[in-house]
Amino acid sequence: MFLTPLSLLGAVIPLAAASAGYLHLDLEKRAADLRSPIAKRQQDFNAPLTQNQGVEYLINITVGTPPQKMAVTLDTGSSDLWIPSVLSAPCKRGQCDGGQFNPQSSSSYVIIDEGGFNITYAGPGDSDAGNWVQETVSIGGSRSINNTIIGVALEGADNHGVMGVGFDTNEAEPNPSRNGTYASVVDHMVSEGLLNRKAYSLYLNDFSQTTGSICFGCVDTTKYTGSLVALPLQLGPSGSGVEGTDPTRPNAFYVTLTSVSFVDANGALTQLSPDGYAQSVLLDSGTSQTLLNNEILTALATGLGAVYTDEQTYTVPCSYSNTNASILYQFGGSDGPRVTVPLSELVYGETVPPSQFSKPSGGCDMGVTGPIEGQVILGDTFLRNAYVVYDIDNYQVAIAQAAGGKAGSSSIQAIPTGTSIPGVSSTATASGTQLDEYAATATATGIPVATGRTVTAGSPTFILGASATASNAQASGASSSSTANIAVPVAAVPQTLFLGAGLVVGALLL
Ligand SMILES: *[C@@H]1O[C@H](CO)[C@@H](O)[C@H](O)[C@H]1NC(C)=O
Ligand SMILES: *[C@@H]1O[C@H](CO)[C@@H](O)[C@H](O)[C@H]1NC(C)=O
Ligand SMILES: *[C@@H]1O[C@H](CO)[C@@H](O)[C@H](O)[C@H]1NC(C)=O
Ligand SMILES: *[C@@H]1O[C@H](CO)[C@@H](O)[C@H](O)[C@H]1NC(C)=O
Ligand SMILES: *[C@@H]1O[C@H](CO)[C@@H](O)[C@H](O)[C@H]1NC(C)=O
Repeated sequence: MFLTPLSLLGAVIPLAAASAGYLHLDLEKRAADLRSPIAKRQQDFNAPLTQNQGVEYLINITVGTPPQKMAVTLDTGSSDLWIPSVLSAPCKRGQCDGGQFNPQSSSSYVIIDEGGFNITYAGPGDSDAGNWVQETVSIGGSRSINNTIIGVALEGADNHGVMGVGFDTNEAEPNPSRNGTYASVVDHMVSEGLLNRKAYSLYLNDFSQTTGSICFGCVDTTKYTGSLVALPLQLGPSGSGVEGTDPTRPNAFYVTLTSVSFVDANGALTQLSPDGYAQSVLLDSGTSQTLLNNEILTALATGLGAVYTDEQTYTVPCSYSNTNASILYQFGGSDGPRVTVPLSELVYGETVPPSQFSKPSGGCDMGVTGPIEGQVILGDTFLRNAYVVYDIDNYQVAIAQAAGGKAGSSSIQAIPTGTSIPGVSSTATASGTQLDEYAATATATGIPVATGRTVTAGSPTFILGASATASNAQASGASSSSTANIAVPVAAVPQTLFLGAGLVVGALLL
C-alpha cells in the first residue's frame, strides 16, 4: 500500500523509520521563484541584473486520494501548509514548478472555508489565497495523514506551495479554528504516532550542494561538528513573536544572538556587534538572506567595501568567495554555541555582470542585509552552516556548527518524549533584548550607493587575502552552481525571500 507513493517520490525511507518515531527526509535546493514585486524594484537600478541569489529548500509531499505529488518549500518561519491549485494564475501560466493540485481528482478533498485562506509573507505583495480544505497528506512517503487542514491557493505570488513547520500560534488567520489555532501537519505527525514529539532537525548543507535534509523527530549526528548546545526560545520584537493568549511564550524560533565578529584571512578577529549585544533573532529557513542590525551591517559592509545596489542588496566583488575570511556568530553568551560562516558560503550569485562592475569578477550579493519590519533574521546564508534542532514542545532549539557535504551519511537518534535532545550537553541561557520595530533601520550607514549603469566596488578595510582581490579572480564554485540552479531564466534584480518571519499580517496586527 505504501509502495506507490514511495516509488513515485523516489524517496528512500524505510517504513521502519516511521515506527521508530522519526522521518529522515531529503530537501532539494532550488532557485527561488520570481515574484511580481521584483519588476517594480527593477526601476530602482537600471542595469540588467541576473537573478540567481535566492534559493529555497523543497520537500516532497503528496496530497489527495489518490496521492498527487507536490514539492513545497520547507519553512521554519511560518506554520501553514498550502499548495497551488491547477486553477491558480501561476499554474495556468505553466509556472507551478512544484506540481499543481487538482481538487477534482481527489476523493478526499473537502472544502471547509471557501475563499477564507490568505497567507501574507513578509515580502512586499507576497500573498497566497484560496480555500481552507481538509485533505489526506503524506510527507516524504509517510503513511497517510487524514483530515489535515491545508490551504489550496487559487491566486498568489508563489509558484509552489510552502510547508510551514513553526508554532500553531503563528498560523495564518483567519483559519477554520474558533480559537485561531488548528492542528498543523507536524501536530498530526505526532498524534498519528510518526514522531514522539514536535521537534525536528534541519540541515541545509553547503551552498555548493543540492541536497539537504530534515530529520523529523530525530537528530543526525553525522551532520554537525562539536556538540549541540541548547538555547531557550525568546520573544520576538514587540508586536510579533508572542503567543496571542500567553504573552510569556514565544510563537517562533527566536534565540539570543550575543556576538558577531569578522575573522579575516589571517585569522584575526574584529568584533562587529556592539559591546553587551543581546538580540532576539529569528531562525528562518524561508528567508534566503541574513538580516542584521544596522550597527553590524554597517561594520560588515564598510569592512568589505560593499556598495548598496538595491533596496535589499549590498554588492561585493564575486572574487570574495575565494577568501578564507568568515563571520563568527555566538548565541546565549560566552558559553553558547558558535557558528562560523565562511565568506565562500555567503558571497554567491552574480548580481552585477563584469561589464557593469569595476572588478572583472563581477559583483555578488554580500548575503547580509538590514532588518525588515524590525526583524533581525538568520536565514539561509546563516543556516547552511548551522545544524539546528527545533523543539516546539519545549520552546528551545539546539545549535552546532554544520558539517558540510554530508548529505549521503546518517546516524540517526530519535528524539524521545520529554525534554532531552540527543547529543545536547548544555544550555546557554543569556537572554535577548527586543529590538523595537521602529528602532531598526533597513539600510547601513555611510555605504556608497550605486547610481549609474556601472558599479564601482569600494575598498575593503578587512584583510581578505590575495585570492579575494586578485584582478582576474573568478567567483568560486558557489557562483557557478548557483547559476546552474536557476529555475526561471529571466533577467531581474536580485531578490530575497522573506517567508514567514513571524510577519504573517494577522500576527503583526495583534
Ligand atoms: C522529489 O521527487 C522527485 C521525483 O519525482 C525526485 O526526483 C526528487 O529527487 C525528490 N526530491 C527529494 C528532495 O526527495
Ligand atoms: C485515510 O485516507 C485514506 C485515503 O485518503 C484511506 O484509504 C484510509 O482508510 C484513511 N485512514 C483512516 C484511518 O481513516
Ligand atoms: C490577502 O491579504 C493581503 C494582505 O492583507 C491582501 O493584500 C490581498 O488582497 C488578499 N488576497 C485576497 C485574494 O483576498
Ligand atoms: C484550539 O482549537 C483546536 C481545535 O480547533 C484544538 O485542537 C486546540 O487544542 C485549541 N487550542 C487551545 C489553545 O485551546
Ligand atoms: C587559508 O588559510 C590557510 C591557513 O590558515 C592558508 O594556508 C591558505 O593559503 C589560505 N588560503 C587563502 C586563499 O588565503
